[in-house]
Amino acid sequence: MSGTAEFHTPVMGPETALRVVNDPNGVYVDGTVGGGGHAEHLLERMGPQGRLIGLDRDPEAVQAAAGRLRRFSHRLVIVETSFRELPGVLEKLKVKRISGALFDLGVSSHQIDAASRGFSYKKNGPLDMRMGPDALRSAKEVVNACSPEKLTRIFREFGEERAAGRIARAICRRRVREPLNNTFELAALISETAPGPQTIKTLSRVFQAIRIEVNGELDQLQETLEYAIGRLTTGGRIGVLSYHSLEDRTVKKVFRSASLGCVCPPDLPVCGCGRVPQARVLTPGGIRPDPAERQRNPRCRSATLRVAEKL
Ligand SMILES: C[S@@+](CC[C@H](N)C(=O)[O-])C[C@H]1O[C@@H](n2cnc3c(N)ncnc32)[C@H](O)[C@@H]1O
Repeated sequence: MSGTAEFHTPVMGPETALRVVNDPNGVYVDGTVGGGGHAEHLLERMGPQGRLIGLDRDPEAVQAAAGRLRRFSHRLVIVETSFRELPGVLEKLKVKRISGALFDLGVSSHQIDAASRGFSYKKNGPLDMRMGPDALRSAKEVVNACSPEKLTRIFREFGEERAAGRIARAICRRRVREPLNNTFELAALISETAPGPQTIKTLSRVFQAIRIEVNGELDQLQETLEYAIGRLTTGGRIGVLSYHSLEDRTVKKVFRSASLGCVCPPDLPVCGCGRVPQARVLTPGGIRPDPAERQRNPRCRSATLRVAEKL
């Protein structure tokens, strides 16, 4: 892997770095370093003392980021791990406080474009979808082994797919004859089961749902964001780029809760909860890519950037 810009085009790169870097000489975390595009923007905004810790669970991403960011290697540590391991990483590096953190959720273009990774219904490849070796099961195992009830739940909860039950039952009928092995077999079965003008959307939703299940994408997201906010210095910032409503809902929930002060009933004479706001949200409605960026990079269309600042 070359580590070039083709690996992934960072979404709202300069804008994100501008909003996340407040103290140029602080320590920053990029929890999803990918091809290093956002990390490069962050490092360019930082001063000579600024350091960045980049994490990614995908070894191909770690290699690409290390290549792209070679000129910053004296200010950079890249670790192949899930962001859920952030507490252990910071402890190991003896970092107590961070000045900022960025989480650019979801998949990289490289992961989607590499047929061998099995993320895309548009390219034929093995039903894999594992972002890294830490994922416990592949898409093939999920699709061929989960009960119809479990598959229905996955498609409904992680894909918000209306035909969830119908597609789950069709998969279970089909796999009795022979297992589903590759992306085109699964895509054809979904298209036959839910035909019509919405088929492309159904394919996206079902593939997204399986990917979220395989990688446990929503597990630990809330805990990791809460942990990162807890580690920020005063004035430190956390930025999160999300690409679908399930992720965005979690981000909004965490930010809302962190910005909440006293929650006592208004008729209580003195505060009993002792709650003080930890952070303030800097982007109340979220920030979306502008039309020019959407045209240049259609994959950024669903992105929302939210940023909060530690009080
Ligand atoms: C949208 S891409 C990030 C792209 C990156 N910002 C850039 O500019 O190149 C998302 C990345 O997050 C990684 N990822 C997803 N979940 C993760 C997790 N729990 N821990 C660490 N990395 C994760 C994926 O492997 C992928 O490389």
